[in-house]
Amino acid sequence: MASLKTVLYLGVCLSAWIITYADEKVPKAENVRWVSVDFKTVLHWTTDPSDYKYTVHYASNEGEWRETLNCIQMSLTECDLSSDVKMNSTYNVKIQTEPAIEYDDYSDDLEEYPRSYSPPFNPFRETNISAVKFTVAVVDESRVNVTITDPLSGIHEGKKQLSLRDILKSELKYKISYYKFGSTGKRDFISNSSTAEVSQLDAGQSYCFMVAAFIPTRPKITQQGAWSAQWCTPGDEPNLGAWVGAVVILLTVLVIIILVTVLCCKCCRQKDPSQSSTPV
Ligand SMILES: *[C@@H]1O[C@H](CO)[C@@H](O)[C@H](O)[C@H]1NC(C)=O
Repeated sequence: MASLKTVLYLGVCLSAWIITYADEKVPKAENVRWVSVDFKTVLHWTTDPSDYKYTVHYASNEGEWRETLNCIQMSLTECDLSSDVKMNSTYNVKIQTEPAIEYDDYSDDLEEYPRSYSPPFNPFRETNISAVKFTVAVVDESRVNVTITDPLSGIHEGKKQLSLRDILKSELKYKISYYKFGSTGKRDFISNSSTAEVSQLDAGQSYCFMVAAFIPTRPKITQQGAWSAQWCTPGDEPNLGAWVGAVVILLTVLVIIILVTVLCCKCCRQKDPSQSSTPV
């Protein structure tokens, strides 16, 4: 009799547990992924809509979990970690689902709630580098100066927004690619600094330049940033002169043709017998 009671009791417990579990599916952060450009680093995830909150912790090089600055008990499914993950180390992130209510005994309660982990991420190796801005100034017939603006990063130090140069220092180089307008051969070279002189250009020719950040200390696939827009120097004036000349010649020919046609018609009309027979 006692054993039957036990079985019944167990059954009731089990069904209660199943009902509770089915009713209250605690959501978990899924598809956790990093999106990072110029050290502006945001963690994204997806989840089923619910009243649950998420708290994000991070750890560098498998160290202790640390609380993030901005992502505690939040309902959003993204977390800006730019100010947390800014050293040259590999970071892991933990997203903990938490009940919406306030509670005191933090660590004990949370064991029952699900958590997810991000793939490891190192901003120094993996942040994407956006297209840079630059100008080209003609020095003389065969030389130009390329001046590149170091892009700003997503990291602030006090009030100052750091540039990529502030962060990467001498590791930041630029790839400069150029070609003579109208030809297919491209030349590339790497500049260590944000200004570079390009020499041995053919006098009087138009050249087009493009620039991309280049970080040779990174793995191959992330070494190069996005290509900038193209900047072309003007060629020599003879080109323009030739165009103007061609247009002038074309116009002249056109005028001559019209004149000749008109004159011919006049001649023909004068020779017309019906007109010449008119009495004077
Ligand atoms: C960098 O850009 C590539 C190509 O757009 C993208 O697939 C990758 O996820 C980006 N990486 C980060 C960390 O944002």
